Amino acid sequence: NGIRMIGVPVDLGQEQRGVDLGPGALRYAGLSARLSGLGYIVEDVGNLPVPVRDVLGAERELRYLPSIRQVCETVYQAGRSAVTQGFMPIFMGGDHSMAVGSIGGVTDEAPAAVIWVDAHGDYNTPQSSPTGNIHGMALAALLGEGFPELVNVGRPGAKLHASDIILIGLRELDPEEKLRLRASGIKAYTMRDIDERGMAAIAHEALGRLAHRTRLHVSLDLDGLDPLEVPGVGTTAPGGITYREAQLLMEIIADSGLLRSMDIVEINPILDHSNRTAKIAVELTASAFGASIL
Ligand code: ARG
Ligand code: MN
Ligand code: MN
Ligand code: MN
Repeated sequence: NGIRMIGVPVDLGQEQRGVDLGPGALRYAGLSARLSGLGYIVEDVGNLPVPVRDVLGAERELRYLPSIRQVCETVYQAGRSAVTQGFMPIFMGGDHSMAVGSIGGVTDEAPAAVIWVDAHGDYNTPQSSPTGNIHGMALAALLGEGFPELVNVGRPGAKLHASDIILIGLRELDPEEKLRLRASGIKAYTMRDIDERGMAAIAHEALGRLAHRTRLHVSLDLDGLDPLEVPGVGTTAPGGITYREAQLLMEIIADSGLLRSMDIVEINPILDHSNRTAKIAVELTASAFGASIL
């Protein structure tokens, strides 16, 4: 079983410059070698074509929706082919808007469960979003809500049911997003849950809740971790998941044997210290794919 690394240098889903450099940061941090060291055949297919925002000009008023839709279509097809060809795709972002394509693509043939690690819900619609940034709308689009251009990427309609998704690390929601999430039926483990119950209990319970699916996708937004440990992200929220808690979560996910695909998103090397965030992301990815200490 091989792993296919797919770079998606998209920064159009938010305003901060630098997330488009995420794929390079993960490559320089040794993602490919780390995974092949675990015994996987790893193939890096390079970066998918993504328009550079500096030359998009007038699309800014549209929040780059046409370009994000096109990028997500391309990501969808790349994800779908990887699964069809028997590869486990790792999508290297880029901002979280690309998950509309990646999760769409990996669920083209058969449904999958998703563990979404994030400080945020990414559950805004264009109406509920105070910023208009599309990376904050990705999960809603996957559930069939918001811009039809995003909802219908790859195939028409919702790509996930509320019961297929678990959020972990939540601590910053917009006012209307909070009401929407409460009403959605999506299970979310907040930082309070993690503090009170511990990551081990939450990881096991999360996997139990997703047991109706035989395949798992992990969408890892690095801003879910504490910005003191992972400074290279654009939308920081204090009081996040520690490196150790994240490692434990990934190790428990690996034990399940269900992991088939992954997003690594929101790494911003411009804001980072000596590529530390990508290095930590590489270690977490290795753990998710079965690396163990002893
Ligand atoms: N909720 C905020 C918004 O809608 C922040 C979203 C952050 N999302 C992310 N993928 N980092 O703009
Ligand atoms: Mn996110
Ligand atoms: Mn986030
Ligand atoms: Mn700093």
